[in-house]
Amino acid sequence: MRCSALLAAAGLLLSACDSSGDGGSGQAGSTSFQGRGPITYAAGKDATGVTPKVIARWNELHPKEKVTYIQLPTDADSQRQQMIQNAETKSNAYTVLSLDVVWTSEFAAHQWIDRLPENQFPLQKMLKPVVQTARYRGGLYAAPASSDGGLLYYRTDLMDKAGITAPPTTWSEMTNDCAQVKKKVPAAKGMSCYAGQLQKYEGLTVNFAEAVNSAGGIVTDANGKPDVDTPAARKGLDFLAGAVKNGTIPKEALTYQEEDGRQAFQAGKVMFLRNWPYMYSLAQKSPVAGKFAVSPLPGLDGPGSSSLGGHNLALSSFAKNKATALDFMKFFSSEDSATTFLKDASLAPAYADLYNTPSLVGKYPYLPVLKQSILHAVPRPRVVAYGDVTSAIQQEAYAVLTGTKSSAQALKDLQSDLQKATAQ
Ligand code: GLC
Repeated sequence: MRCSALLAAAGLLLSACDSSGDGGSGQAGSTSFQGRGPITYAAGKDATGVTPKVIARWNELHPKEKVTYIQLPTDADSQRQQMIQNAETKSNAYTVLSLDVVWTSEFAAHQWIDRLPENQFPLQKMLKPVVQTARYRGGLYAAPASSDGGLLYYRTDLMDKAGITAPPTTWSEMTNDCAQVKKKVPAAKGMSCYAGQLQKYEGLTVNFAEAVNSAGGIVTDANGKPDVDTPAARKGLDFLAGAVKNGTIPKEALTYQEEDGRQAFQAGKVMFLRNWPYMYSLAQKSPVAGKFAVSPLPGLDGPGSSSLGGHNLALSSFAKNKATALDFMKFFSSEDSATTFLKDASLAPAYADLYNTPSLVGKYPYLPVLKQSILHAVPRPRVVAYGDVTSAIQQEAYAVLTGTKSSAQALKDLQSDLQKATAQ
């Protein structure tokens, strides 16, 4: 593995490492994973219900090595906090962790998770940027499980009635389409135009980063250096803030996480919604089934770009029964399990070929588009002090959205906060 200019100052800033890593020296061997018996899997609550199903399949096959699903809260920040609390007390309560892709550096650098033997996972079959999210300093610290890319959910029935034939590719097209639909379709009159995840939590970091990226700006550069105090970043943030101010985004959306937005969309309250792929399968079982589609996120002058999301499987350093854990991680991240996660719950797979499998594309026609969006998605800052980075972003973005700070001042303050966080 080759990392260029890897660590700034005290070694806390991970910069560009290539994905061709061979793990360097000290490759983790499976012999260091010992002990068999019951284990736990700690992950956020699963709205789709597919996680218990796949665990039940494992438990049937391994009655002496059963996995207990520990359901953590739905929001990413609370999950991270609980996992860190466990790690800091060296608790063995969590064996396998469903680690958000943005936490790999932090957990690996603190030695809260074990380095994994990469020859035991079919990484060459997976999308490269997804594998990259599981690496720290070239070593593999998690098994890529599901990826995530932002999509624009929109109401095809209403667009058709208004005579609009294609989904919007820019923010202004989206706003105009919404106005047209409201004008021409009486049932849509009271609907809100757009929502995303704007509550003050990790979802806001994602939505902020996407707005900045979709206006041509960046939060940090390829070496992890903050560069957010720019006119382009300001255009992105101003789109969100302006939309809240003029009502394109309803005030309630400032309290939305993923599930709140989904409920609003399914109840016919919102016309366009930014959300992750998991929502597709659930919305297909809701009152808007057959009345919506997804497209790439819109941007300032053309299609926007998504943040790279997703979850990987990491092994707690403090866990028991690590031989069982390694086998479970292989099972849970296998192509077979990924197919179930995709079929049942529309979770974005790590495996490249599933995006082009005819039967799956038949069920989820947007898969090829999603693959491109994941391949071109922008990773959030890859830093050990990720907690500081995300809370600075949340703080400043929320202040602008709620009208207590100008975007110019907030981006200036954010640049300085990010410089401090990444220089630690
Ligand atoms: C999704 C993404 C994850 C992201 C989170 C934010 O779960 O997979 O990467 O951090 O949403 O709410």
